[in-house]
Amino acid sequence: MPQHLIEPHGGKLVDLLVGDQRADELKALSRDWPSWTLAPRQICDLELLTNGGFSPLRGFMNQPDYQGVCSQMRLVDGTLWPIPITLDVTEDLAKQLSAGGKLALRDMEGNMLAVLTVEDVFQPDRNAEAQQVFGTTSKEHPAVAYLFDVANPWYVGGSVESVQAPRHYDFVENRLTPAQVRQKFHMLGWRKVVAFQTRNPMHRAHQELTFRAAVDTEANLLIHPVVGMTKPGDVDHYTRVRCYQAIMKHYPKNTVLMSLLPLAMRMGGPREAVWHAIIRKNFGCTHLIVGRDHAGPGSNSAGEPFYGPYDAQELLQQHEAEIGVKMVPFRMMVYVPQDDAYFPIDEVSKDTRTLSISGTDLRDRLAGGREIPSWFSFPEVVAELHRTYPPRSKQGFTVFFTGLSGSGKSTIANVLMVKLLETGGRAVTLLDGDIVRTNLSSELGFSREHRDINIRRIGFVASEITKNGGIAICAPIAPYDAIRKQNKAQISKGGGYILVHVATTLEVCEQRDTKGLYAKARAGIIKEFTGISDPYEEPEDADIVMDTDDMTPEECAQQIILHLEKEGYVGSAQDEQP
Ligand code: PPS
Repeated sequence: MPQHLIEPHGGKLVDLLVGDQRADELKALSRDWPSWTLAPRQICDLELLTNGGFSPLRGFMNQPDYQGVCSQMRLVDGTLWPIPITLDVTEDLAKQLSAGGKLALRDMEGNMLAVLTVEDVFQPDRNAEAQQVFGTTSKEHPAVAYLFDVANPWYVGGSVESVQAPRHYDFVENRLTPAQVRQKFHMLGWRKVVAFQTRNPMHRAHQELTFRAAVDTEANLLIHPVVGMTKPGDVDHYTRVRCYQAIMKHYPKNTVLMSLLPLAMRMGGPREAVWHAIIRKNFGCTHLIVGRDHAGPGSNSAGEPFYGPYDAQELLQQHEAEIGVKMVPFRMMVYVPQDDAYFPIDEVSKDTRTLSISGTDLRDRLAGGREIPSWFSFPEVVAELHRTYPPRSKQGFTVFFTGLSGSGKSTIANVLMVKLLETGGRAVTLLDGDIVRTNLSSELGFSREHRDINIRRIGFVASEITKNGGIAICAPIAPYDAIRKQNKAQISKGGGYILVHVATTLEVCEQRDTKGLYAKARAGIIKEFTGISDPYEEPEDADIVMDTDDMTPEECAQQIILHLEKEGYVGSAQDEQP
């Protein structure tokens, strides 16, 4: 490896991949070993252990290293390391393991990625870990929520032999390992490299600030976005990478490289900044750009931030001499229309007119299909974001009816379907209670458990339709609030969700008794009948409540259409033009 690049952390770039012969041997022997199916976060960690992104680590932490990292940010040998890299497993598996034994680590498809030689098996003190590493035990911090609610209760420490790196099929040419990045730097003659860590799309301000950081430090630039696991709700990495690819064309040639980092972020703020610097050092970088609230999870529900805005910069600065990677403060850039240029905010006088667009404003503009000005972002980036976040008039949505049997749900749903088909532009699927019970749920009865399964199935199908830009109209009784709420959460991720409570009273439904079921229910011939011998939990979160007593089905459907128009899901004829 070229000598003039910064040394990896610990002095040597780790490579845990074994040769073909050893791999075959391990595969043959693995027949007799217990297996563990790696969780997505564990796969990310394993990948960076394998390729040396986490040098000098050679496996998942044993208890002494884990405790040293939690309490003092140091491995037992004194090496600086701020974040525990642990393999959490179930109690069942933990009981089968002992020091010196082997554990096959497999991906979701069952492929063996690596073998762990067990050093120890231990139960972590989760409260202590949360407090020491993340500075809080509040589950509002995503890493603490993961620790308590997702991670398993036992940790297994030990060295790793990797049989194959986790497979990726997307953006393969951009996924460079530390050795490959170092090789590129060597070939390009880069010695000083400033890394830019990001989990968001990059706009002009980011391009300006990274370019200036490179110029100011007389260094080349590595755009190093995280594509492993980031903060829930972030823009998906497929969209982001297309944006990064587009923005690369706007830098001067031969001074910038982009590579994707399969890191599972913890949103650990200050400690995470130190971790990011160590990882970038392993990739051959000498500088890291660190912004306000770097890798922070934001604020809790009381509006209090988990970390101070400059805690990350300060902690990295304290350790930068030891790591050898310098902290480059992210300079806030503002657009000055008069010069049609960006400047660091501290270089602009107070009375100069400046422009900016906040994250919320950007999301609103995307949702409304409104223009995003070219001073804010490059047109190719804007086009990508518009593609991923179409305006509501082009998004899919679900209209979910709930109400008693005979309340009129199906009739209104049918009228609504016809009206939406008349408008055109999207495929419409009707998931009426009876249709679903015939085609999807024929084996189910009417116990709470079965009704919940039924509604969950409807929710799954509706969420797929919505995500793919169609309209799902669902009309089951759906008497239980909890499962309705679960569906809402799932469906809303991919588009619109409108809950319509058809609130026709039990008396009216029973009086109509079109199917004769109420009479049977009263006579005890049908058991568990909603409203008679089974509960109906009225929704308190309905977007529309309609009483069919004095409204025709046409009027009801029209009320929903007007609501959809108001919310922007159904556009005017003009909006429908391409
Ligand atoms: S649920 O609770 O949402 O799973 O019910 P759903 O799938 O909508 O099915 C309701 C239709 O099944 C008929 N039916 C009953 N309804 C309620 N309770 C009992 N015990 C029952 N047995 C049969 C009834 O015709 C319902 O149709 P709708 O269209 O609602 O009148």
